[in-house]
Amino acid sequence: MKRTHTCGELTEKFIGKKAILQGWVSKRRDHGSLIFIDLRDRYGTTQVVFNPKGGKEAHREAGKLGKEFVVQIEGKVGKRPKGTENKAIETGKVEVSATKLEILNPAATPLPIELDKHLLAGEEQRLKYRFLDLRRPELQQNLILRHKAIKAFRDFFDNEGFLEIETPILAKSTPEGARDFLVPSRVHQGKFFALPQSPQLFKQILMVSGFDRYFQIVKCFRDEDLRADRQLEFTQVDVEMSFVEQEDIFKIMEEAMAFVFKKSLNVSVKTPFSRISFDDAMNRFGSDKPDTRFEMELADVTNEMSGTDFGIFNSVIEANGSIKALKIEKGCEKLSKKDVDKLTEIAKLYKAKGLMSVWVKGEGIESQIAKFLPEKTVKALLSKTKSKKGDLILLVADSWETACNSLGYVRLAVGQKLNLIDLKKWNFLWVYDFPLLDWSDEEQRWQAMHHPFTSPKDEDLKLLDSSPEKAKAKAYDIVLNGVEIGGGSIRIHQREIQEKIFKALGISKEEAESKFEFLLTAFKYGAPPHGGIALGLDRVVALMANEDSIREVIAFPKNKATISLMDNAPSEVSEKQLKELGLKLDIEKVLP
Ligand code: AMO
Repeated sequence: MKRTHTCGELTEKFIGKKAILQGWVSKRRDHGSLIFIDLRDRYGTTQVVFNPKGGKEAHREAGKLGKEFVVQIEGKVGKRPKGTENKAIETGKVEVSATKLEILNPAATPLPIELDKHLLAGEEQRLKYRFLDLRRPELQQNLILRHKAIKAFRDFFDNEGFLEIETPILAKSTPEGARDFLVPSRVHQGKFFALPQSPQLFKQILMVSGFDRYFQIVKCFRDEDLRADRQLEFTQVDVEMSFVEQEDIFKIMEEAMAFVFKKSLNVSVKTPFSRISFDDAMNRFGSDKPDTRFEMELADVTNEMSGTDFGIFNSVIEANGSIKALKIEKGCEKLSKKDVDKLTEIAKLYKAKGLMSVWVKGEGIESQIAKFLPEKTVKALLSKTKSKKGDLILLVADSWETACNSLGYVRLAVGQKLNLIDLKKWNFLWVYDFPLLDWSDEEQRWQAMHHPFTSPKDEDLKLLDSSPEKAKAKAYDIVLNGVEIGGGSIRIHQREIQEKIFKALGISKEEAESKFEFLLTAFKYGAPPHGGIALGLDRVVALMANEDSIREVIAFPKNKATISLMDNAPSEVSEKQLKELGLKLDIEKVLP
């Protein structure tokens, strides 16, 4: 009972040979005397034909076949009659004339979801019946690609002398800034493990222990709202190195990406990658993860728009805010009023109070704010944005961050709407010199933009007391086609600097010790200078596979509502289990 070939293997060179195939029936066409099936496994699809002359019994049995039956067929490989070849598949020139058929297992009908990509069910249904969904060649290709990428990362880091070292899943809270998943301890009731948001602290400890080149392909857990590029559990390619500077991390990661893209996609990636500072990225593209596959950069027109009677501009300028402009030339005539309204909604979604539009006409401009703008202001605006007749300028006046960020999203929407994005490009980019700190309105204190172990730039250390908002960090992100695929930093390895940062973050000595005691203690006994990075593997593979959502490259993802629809997790547990853990629920039970 052994297959001699897979369903993706038989081509013209096998004509005349005998073959035994096993697989799933993906299609059946009954022409009475002749019955055709497409037999599928993960390697491909082969056409099988049942002719009563070749095997009466097999032909009779074939009449019973339904979609997704698992069968074994035995037969002879032949050339398909002229005009019936399928050029789209490797096996498209041959068919197997079956002499025997064994139904290994029938499949119930009707199938809960169709597997044909033209009849695709909604995502919720697909996730519920993931065992069927995963039979689809498109998803199988994605998982094969994922496997290849993981293997290539492992091979690369192994070749470069990195060691893969596992770190605990049941651990203590890590400092990545999301909400933790907690696991109650049965033995130590009232105490909890936290699932790691990343192996950050452990990999730094490994540096202290002398494993100067570490990597790990590792699951991380973050209890956050899900989006197309976020899951509660996701996979990182986590890297840490000792005795390095930012430049060394850039170089090794560029080599890693080039290796992985070549091995798994056969794409040649150009190195070194482009680089842009955080400030430039925000100013020019309105994003800390710019999509540089198209140009259309923002301009700062704060100075140009000063001295008008327009209250919004004046109050923003007074509050030290910015006025940013986006000029659209190519294709802007295709944008209707409705399109501009949609862009305004996007700007508002990202906290802008509004989006002003200025159409450049032959003589002057057409705009809802035209009456507030003296001629010299209009001239200055057109000159700064290098606008000409027919162009459209969109403006946001707000805090620097909101003006940049909201217009950055408008830029992306325009790029998509006007098809300005070159989809064949692979634009890798380093964004560096991130701010060290980030002001939290909610908590009314500074937070670490990356995490509290990120080193400030040497020359900015002195800013921590006077103007902490200006201090930059030795932190960097790697961006691919406008998606943040990874982030990292050079770490603090000196105690005095670490204490200074804790102080700036408003973390007391006691708090620091209770949270990070083991790391701080370890640092007392000879911590080497070190730094690292983590890539979001799901995002990398989704980009490689040209998928919009990482759920398409994960075998069993959660849906947007954080439910695993196939196994129905999370689910309730028994009273007995809760009791063993010393837990009592205090929630109002919502009855169905
Ligand atoms: P960071 O938090 O930036 O850094 O995470 C690194 C990368 O992981 C991916 N990522 C996610 N992917 C899917 N779902 C999520 N919920 C999710 N969250 C993050 C992103 C991101 O760029 N310890 C540091 C790394 C370091 O400093 O070495 C860290 O975890 O692609």
